Amino acid sequence: MHYLWAIKYIFHKKMEEFNITISVIKKKQEELTPEESTLVENAKEATFRSYAPYSHFCVGAAVLLEDGTIVTGSNQENSAYPSGICAERTTMFYANSRYPDLKVKCICIAARGTDGNFTSRPISPCGACRQVLSESEDRSQSPIKVLLYGTDGTYTINSVKDLLPVSFDASFL
Ligand code: THU
Repeated sequence: MHYLWAIKYIFHKKMEEFNITISVIKKKQEELTPEESTLVENAKEATFRSYAPYSHFCVGAAVLLEDGTIVTGSNQENSAYPSGICAERTTMFYANSRYPDLKVKCICIAARGTDGNFTSRPISPCGACRQVLSESEDRSQSPIKVLLYGTDGTYTINSVKDLLPVSFDASFL
């Protein structure tokens, strides 16, 4: 028993600790840049093109490309539930397939809840979407800014990597 404790102690002493902090800036509507504001409007509009007959949770996304092109998309559900796809992946996959040579600069996400109103608290991409966004960021070779809209304020995050630290990527293959 004492022996085990000793080993634990040695391991503990040898362990390295990494602390990861991310910066999230919460902006009021009037604090958004004109470019950010346009993206928020596009993401909000996209929620009205969502196909969400099962969850009634309508999500919209808007992606800004380096030449100023904005691509929008929304969640698309299916009666075979797992076959549906989130707004973020719909939009990012479309942007990357339609404009494979243009870098993605920013993605904005907005959602309306089951009451039909925009959420007060910004929604955040699910794990699978973070993985896809992260690969798009690698593809773009520059950070993709993330804007998460809520009626209480919009969170701005400098890079997708901030949302998915210690991630798996192509460098492991
Ligand atoms: N959904 C998104 O489109 N994006 C998110 O970030 C979270 C969830 C969708 C998936 C599903 O159609 C509905 O919202 C409820 O989960």
